Amino acid sequence: MSALLEVDSVSRAFGGLVALRDCSLGVQEGEVAGLIGPNGSGKTTLFNVITGYLRPDSGTVRVRGVDVTRATPARVFSLGLGRTFQLARVFSRLSVMENMLVATQRHEGWLRSVVKGQSSPAERARAKEILEFVGLGHLGHLPAGNLSFGQRKLLELAYVLVADPVIILLDEPAGGVNPTLINLIADRIRALNERGKTFLVVEHNMEFVMSLCHSVTVMHQGTPIVSGTPDVIRNDPRVIDAYLGGSDDEDDEDDEDDEPGGSREGGSWRHRPLTM
Ligand SMILES: Nc1ncnc2c1ncn2[C@@H]1O[C@H](COP(=O)(O)OP(=O)(O)OP(=O)(O)O)[C@@H](O)[C@H]1O
Ligand SMILES: [Mg+2]
Repeated sequence: MSALLEVDSVSRAFGGLVALRDCSLGVQEGEVAGLIGPNGSGKTTLFNVITGYLRPDSGTVRVRGVDVTRATPARVFSLGLGRTFQLARVFSRLSVMENMLVATQRHEGWLRSVVKGQSSPAERARAKEILEFVGLGHLGHLPAGNLSFGQRKLLELAYVLVADPVIILLDEPAGGVNPTLINLIADRIRALNERGKTFLVVEHNMEFVMSLCHSVTVMHQGTPIVSGTPDVIRNDPRVIDAYLGGSDDEDDEDDEDDEPGGSREGGSWRHRPLTM
């Protein structure tokens, strides 16, 4: 196995707040890697740095050996790295199928071509196949805004799969999702992994992480403090300390993902006990 994704000594501050401090991480080809840590520990910021949405103050990021530290999101995406967001980003007024066709036509004039139905039969067939794979095949005609929160997460995964990425970053795929769909999401990730996709998954649901991931890295105050197999992580006292130490960011007022109706569900999992 070789590292598909390498993060080396990345730091990033927002004003006086250091969100990432000397952060290093590697994701090996073929694995499902987990990234956990208390609220505000820097997980989403790291995703934003990796995917080109944020520039680090220092350090380097490599995808398949290519330095993408200063690359745009489009460039990182073109190297085979797809991502989903902590709050699923779908076009609510477009149908589920139209959302998929947007993904197939990421070029100038794509929206016009989608609305005018100019996508090719092959693109439609592929979009339908992927929707069926994630269990949304029967909902293609519905406005995406009518989907449940978990179904939106599945649609976002389907959207990402259109580009056939090599490595997929998922930010809280199970956050705010009902248990039945959580199982479906885990099952689809496993099936994709068996087909050769590599994953880096941020998630607060410990059962989900521990049953799905081959390796887990724990973030605390912007720095990975321990990495290992789920068994190693479960038994490492530093992990318990990181969580019992409480949230790193009590108010979270500047968190770009902290919007109403999001995966926090009124903050229900903030400060909840750690059960692994
Ligand atoms: N755009 C931003 N501007 C200012 N501060 C930010 C910004 N994005 C993140 N932060 C801060 O950086 C820190 C890390 O936030 P981040 O969202 O990466 O944490 P997280 O580990 O994803 O947390 P959660 O589990 O709650 O999603 C927090 O203190 C947050 O408030
Ligand atoms: Mg986050």
